[in-house]
Amino acid sequence: MTTTKSPLIFNIVAECPTSKARVSRMTLHHGSVDLPVFMPVGTQGTLKGMLPEQLEKLGLQIMLANTYHLGTKPGPEILEQAGGLHKFMNWNGCLLTDSGGFQMVSLLKLAEITEEGVRFQSLNEHKAEVMLTPEHSIGIQNAIGADIIMQLDDVVKTTNPNKKRIEESVHRTTRWLDRCLKAHKKPDTQNIFPIVQGTLYEDLREQSAKDHIQRDVRGFAIGGLSGGESKDDFWRMVHLSTDILPKEKPRYLMGVGFAEDLVVCCALGVDMFDCVFPTRTARFGCALTRTGQLNLKKEQFKKDFRPIDENCPCNTCKNYTRAYLSGIVTVLPVACHLITEHNLVFQMSLMKDIRESIKTNKFPQFVAKFMLDLYPDKN
Ligand code: GUN
Ligand code: ZN
Repeated sequence: MTTTKSPLIFNIVAECPTSKARVSRMTLHHGSVDLPVFMPVGTQGTLKGMLPEQLEKLGLQIMLANTYHLGTKPGPEILEQAGGLHKFMNWNGCLLTDSGGFQMVSLLKLAEITEEGVRFQSLNEHKAEVMLTPEHSIGIQNAIGADIIMQLDDVVKTTNPNKKRIEESVHRTTRWLDRCLKAHKKPDTQNIFPIVQGTLYEDLREQSAKDHIQRDVRGFAIGGLSGGESKDDFWRMVHLSTDILPKEKPRYLMGVGFAEDLVVCCALGVDMFDCVFPTRTARFGCALTRTGQLNLKKEQFKKDFRPIDENCPCNTCKNYTRAYLSGIVTVLPVACHLITEHNLVFQMSLMKDIRESIKTNKFPQFVAKFMLDLYPDKN
């Protein structure tokens, strides 16, 4: 008798009695992930400044890759021949790919969305017009072989007030979800997550979440946020969405990576996050700490012989000073590596502290201390 193992097993380990925060373990085809988790982004099959074996040593369990970039270069045929992106890039941990449309709409002003899909000018040298359909996106994501793959969605900016257009995007996103589910060729090893849209309209976001939970899927994402709206609006939409999405499945908030948003949204019941921010900002010389960000390019760090953070366990903080990093930050790739490693360890220790505080029933105390460390003058 052959039994196929589910490609996503989700077990809740501990719950906070006073908020929606929880600790859980998600087991995917390539391994297990402790949640809540922050997933760093490696756009072209590489997280800039770090080798996959270094990421593994840090204890990273899951990272993101982008469908559209990989779909253009090296392309689905080469990825398929290589045996998928895991083998191609030498990463044995879990992978999640975004569906591609969002990147195009946010990167390229020229993208046009129709019922068929997202049309845009290709990033490759020929600059040809290409149409990314739900079927095409899933085809590329099947070739990449990530453990979690995302539906193609119709994303509208939260700053767009046109309710008719947002209503259209909500219904279209559900229609595209059904096309994605139908086109999916590897349901034994890969999971499609639907994406809740609806910008800041409570009724539309509620409808989107309620439509998506009817589908046979193993997890859900919340999209279209963190795009310039107020924190109040942002957090209210997350709260509303997690109230509808089932407790017994993982919830992924897309494009969110500021420390305070991670803490607040964990309290609102989010399990997974991703953002380019910690790694991108590192390349500009910005190091993250619990008391705020340090821009190492600033004059004040030239003679500062302390590490970025005395309490940080990372290799950079053990061996290098702010002064050293400040001197090389704009000129040497090694600075990119050192600050990226620190920022990754910062995000990972923050998530670990959140998980530990929930497990030991001290999450509210953790949140209070976290906010006081970050905003000491608001006492
Ligand atoms: N990344 C950040 N937000 C979004 C979103 O709404 N949709 C997709 N596909 N990716 C995102
Ligand atoms: Zn450090």
